[in-house]
Parts: sequence; C-alpha cells; structure tokens
Amino acid sequence: MENKRFENQHVLITGAARGIGFEIARQFALEGAVLSVFDNHSANLQKAVVELKQLTSEVWSEQVDVSDRKRVFDAVERTDAKQPVDVLVNNAGIAKEQPFLEIDENDWNSIININLSGMFHVSQAVCRKMVQRKKGAVVNMASKNGLDGEAGYAHYNASKGGVIMLTKTMALEMAHTGVRVNAVCPGYIQTPMSMEIDPPEFTRKFVDRYIPLNRPGKVGEIAPMFLFLASEACSFMTGQVVVLDGGQLAGQKPF
Ligand SMILES: NC(=O)c1ccc[n+]([C@@H]2O[C@H](COP(=O)([O-])OP(=O)(O)OC[C@H]3O[C@@H](n4cnc5c(N)ncnc54)[C@H](O)[C@@H]3O)[C@@H](O)[C@H]2O)c1
Repeated sequence: MENKRFENQHVLITGAARGIGFEIARQFALEGAVLSVFDNHSANLQKAVVELKQLTSEVWSEQVDVSDRKRVFDAVERTDAKQPVDVLVNNAGIAKEQPFLEIDENDWNSIININLSGMFHVSQAVCRKMVQRKKGAVVNMASKNGLDGEAGYAHYNASKGGVIMLTKTMALEMAHTGVRVNAVCPGYIQTPMSMEIDPPEFTRKFVDRYIPLNRPGKVGEIAPMFLFLASEACSFMTGQVVVLDGGQLAGQKPF
C-alpha cells in the first residue's frame, strides 16, 4: 500500500478557499490528512469543502476572519475538540498596491490586521494546545516581499517582514516543547490574488525584468514545500525561512 505522509493527521489551513491555500489543502488531503479549512469567504469556502471531501475522510470548515481574535479562538476550540491539530498552515492574507504616501490608516490596519495579527491570533490559539501535547508543526506564509522590498506595497511588505520575525521568535520559544515553526517565501505566483491586482501585460514585463526562470510560479510549485516543512523529513528544522521565487532574490538577471 502507498505510504501517505499525513495519514489521519489533522491539518488546519487558513485562507484555504482558493489560491495557494486551497492547493496546500488539496495536497495534504491526497497525503491522507483530515482537514480543517478556515476562510472568511463563505461561497468559496463551501465550494472548496465539496472538492476536498472527494479526497479525504473528514473536512471540517469554519467561516472565520483571522483578524477577529475571539472568533478565531472559538473556531480553534471547536476544531481541536474534533481531533487535536497536528499541523497548522497560516496562509490567509491579502495584498493591495498603493503608494506609501497615499496609504490611509484603514488600508494600513486592514493589511496588518489580517496578514500579521491574524497569524498571531491563530498561532497562539493552536500553539497553546500543541505545546501541552509536546507535538506540532506550524508553517507560515511569508513572501519574498518580507525579505526584499517592492515599491507600492509598504503595508504588505511590512506585514510579511513581521511574519518572518514572528516565525523565528515562535520557533525559539517553543523549540523545547517539540513544536516546530518555519516559513515559506514565495515570489510571484499566479493566483486569483495576483491576477486581480496585475493585468497580463504587467505580469509579462515583471517576469522579463525580474524572474530568472522567466515565468510566474504556479500554486502546485509552492504547496509541496508546506508539506515538506510539516513532515517528519524536517524534524530537525525550525525557525527557517525558505524562498521559492524563480531565482528573483539571487540577484539581477542578465539583460
Ligand atoms: N500570489 C502571490 O504571488 C503570493 C506571493 C507570496 C505570498 N503570497 C501569500 O500567499 C497567501 C495566499 O495568497 P493567494 O495568492 O493564494 O491569494 P488568494 O486571494 O487567491 O487567496 C487568499 C485566501 O485567503 C482568504 N482570506 C483573505 N482574508 C482573510 C481573512 N481575513 N480571514 C480568513 N481568510 C481570509 C481569501 O478568502 C482567500 O480564500 C497570502 O498570504 C499571500 O500574501 C502570495
């Protein structure tokens, strides 16, 4: 019989209704995991659950905004009671292109509250349970933009830089409990989010100028790293940040 890496493990994924998060959920399901999928978009979440249920025995869902601390704690309580959470994937996030000088307080707060504070709430709710069990793996969605700036995204870049330091500090403080925490930094990936922000002409110019592999990434090229970091193969790895960006951060590509 084929050996599945996450047979009957409970994997909680935020922002799993579409894009990279859905692909991460799909790949965990194919590896035998039971899933909890959290998202704030009701219709997309229902559609995702229907598809995921065809792949694995249990799919629990919670319509929850990760920036709402109380609802996050209630939802984690419910889902962890069904089966203790073994793996947490903090993927939910939003992006908006705006010049730094024009970002107002609402814009700033909405990005930071979802991308960074939301990750703090979900992580704290889940990790308080994981440390009691002395077992667990967390994989956080950062971004290449958390390591290297991009004009037009001050709030987004700041949120993802924050995710990287949150990851490292969580890893340091929980290592002695057996809970591991790592982060993934994708570069430019074709998802509903990036396609809503960038017209195809922009994407072509961006790729020509910045990406050595000469194309955007695909969700199927990002999800496997989340499974790898959550797996036993990475049992000695914590506090690390893995970049999957088509070579963008290696330096300047040739003209
Ligand atoms: N697409 C890229 O190029 C790229 C690159 C690097 C990092 N990322 C990161 O990957 C993650 C997923 O991005 P994507 O491109 O798949 O985007 P997406 O918009 O296609 O998917 C994001 C999902 O998160 C959900 N979500 C948004 N706000 C939420 C909230 N407050 N509470 C719960 N769920 C919420 C959305 O409903 C959606 O289902 C994000 O954190 C993003 O910053 C994306």
